[in-house]
Amino acid sequence: MSISLYLLLGATFVISAWALKLSSERKSASSVSKLPVPPGASFLFGHEKTVFYEQPGRAFRNWIEKCGLTYRIKAAFGAPDIVVLGDPMGIEYLTQKRIYDYHHSRVVRPRVGRFLGRGLGWVEGEDEHKRMKRLINPSLSAETLRTMAPDVRDAASRVLNDMSQVLEANNGAIKNVDVLHWTARAALNVVGRIAFLYDFEGGHGEDAENILHGRRRGVTPMARYTGFIFLMLLRRFPILNDLPIPAIQAQAIARLTIQNGVAREMIRRNKDFVDKHSKDLLSALLIAYSENRISLEELNEQISTFVMAGHEATTLTLGFTLWELAHNQEVQNRLREEIANWPGEPTYDDYVSGLPYLDAVLNETLRKYPGLAYMERVATKEDSIPLKEPITLTDGRVVNSVEVAPGQTILVPIIAIQRLDSVWTDGDTWRPERWLGDRNPTEKMWPGYANLLVFGSNGPRTCIGAKLAIFVYKIVLSGLVTRFRFEGTGEELALGIASSLQPWLKDKTEMGPQIPVHMYAL
Ligand code: HEM
Ligand SMILES: *[C@@H]1O[C@H](CO)[C@@H](O)[C@H](O)[C@H]1NC(C)=O
Repeated sequence: MSISLYLLLGATFVISAWALKLSSERKSASSVSKLPVPPGASFLFGHEKTVFYEQPGRAFRNWIEKCGLTYRIKAAFGAPDIVVLGDPMGIEYLTQKRIYDYHHSRVVRPRVGRFLGRGLGWVEGEDEHKRMKRLINPSLSAETLRTMAPDVRDAASRVLNDMSQVLEANNGAIKNVDVLHWTARAALNVVGRIAFLYDFEGGHGEDAENILHGRRRGVTPMARYTGFIFLMLLRRFPILNDLPIPAIQAQAIARLTIQNGVAREMIRRNKDFVDKHSKDLLSALLIAYSENRISLEELNEQISTFVMAGHEATTLTLGFTLWELAHNQEVQNRLREEIANWPGEPTYDDYVSGLPYLDAVLNETLRKYPGLAYMERVATKEDSIPLKEPITLTDGRVVNSVEVAPGQTILVPIIAIQRLDSVWTDGDTWRPERWLGDRNPTEKMWPGYANLLVFGSNGPRTCIGAKLAIFVYKIVLSGLVTRFRFEGTGEELALGIASSLQPWLKDKTEMGPQIPVHMYAL
């Protein structure tokens, strides 16, 4: 679709949008219209163009400094104002007490459906969500992971061994390698093995190649200008979700590859001899299916959800870590030393709490590079969100809550919060040492893992795969730094958002996500 067509579409609807907005504002008893608002909104694009064109989170950080942790921004094309909620108590209330009253927005939910499937991450409604969670939780618990540790190690080694071989064939050095190539194969190979009893052949089998290739096509940036206009129109007119627009349909390629291929194969091979005692996810789903507790359709949607969610954020978190290690040789050496000095193989529990420097490297990477940069929810009911930090409304009143009406969009600027200089001093600097003593560790900040929001907030809809992700991350990273050394290439990253936080290269964004490093055998 051409730019002019987008604009035409936009213009056609904008007028009715404004009329709608005026009528809804008159009705509501919400206090949103009196929240502080940062300067600089444009008539047509509100504040959203600034959000889009700055580095992820940068605009929200600047506005937090001006307006405090909770404020509103103007939306593009006259859509109703968006509440930006950074207040820890407000976030805790919304995500823990009232999460079932706040749904994924009309933009986010179809996107989750396209990327992952209509599974646990997509479902709305307390009963359905709890039912799915009960089904899946046991397969991802610490207890289960403990018993699966040898398989995790083995599936990770397969990929590390492949890497060693490639290095050997290249005299121990490979320049300018995109490490995501390897971290993706490691993460996918592990999740295939332990959750689905499926061998992705070190991530180099045909299935794995198709999934990873499809995924890359879904997260390549749209051209800057059309990309912005398009995203804003999508927010305004969700019907665009259903049109055959290439940039939208590309988000479904990897999921469809799974649902039409790998998932069917997984089901075919395993459905007749499910081991009732087996703790893996596929067996849990197949048992539920054989007992008519879930449909064939749901079985398929859950499989694609967990193959996709199960590898992609872990892939990127490992990639960002290697990027930082390549640019911080002292950290790399210290990490390597801690792991190399461990007697024997660390167990699951050793990985959880026995290797403090590795843990600090993890927490610091999760802080600086949250896969989900902005969390967006929409109120389905009238509500009063309590705040820790009082706000001064535009009429001068100082209040401790925000009153919202049904339909109100609320955005939690995760990446901005996790990099605030007022909290972290040097928020953009990647410095694992900050986790080891020079900060008060009991200080409660945001209500999630490591006092961050990187896995969402602790509550019903927190990331169900966090324990698995951390375990896989630590095993794979330990293997990587004890076998290889990483150096920077002189390239610069330009972070972007294509549903998740992506490492694009400065001036070469069209190449899609990349983490270039030089890699040497030790
Ligand atoms: C570093 C890795 C990971 C990060 C940063 C991450 C982050 C997140 C975040 C922020 C959410 C909340 C989304 C929201 O509220 O809108 C979430 C939910 C979810 N994650 Fe993860 N995740 C990771 C790894 C995994 C893994 C390994 C799996 C699967 C094995 C997984 C499966 C899911 C699912 C199914 C949900 C939806 C949960 C629900 O709505 O109840 N994630 N994740
Ligand atoms: C990292 O975060 C986890 C989860 O909150 C915490 O238990 C751990 O102590 C943190 N690690 C370090 C080194 O601070």
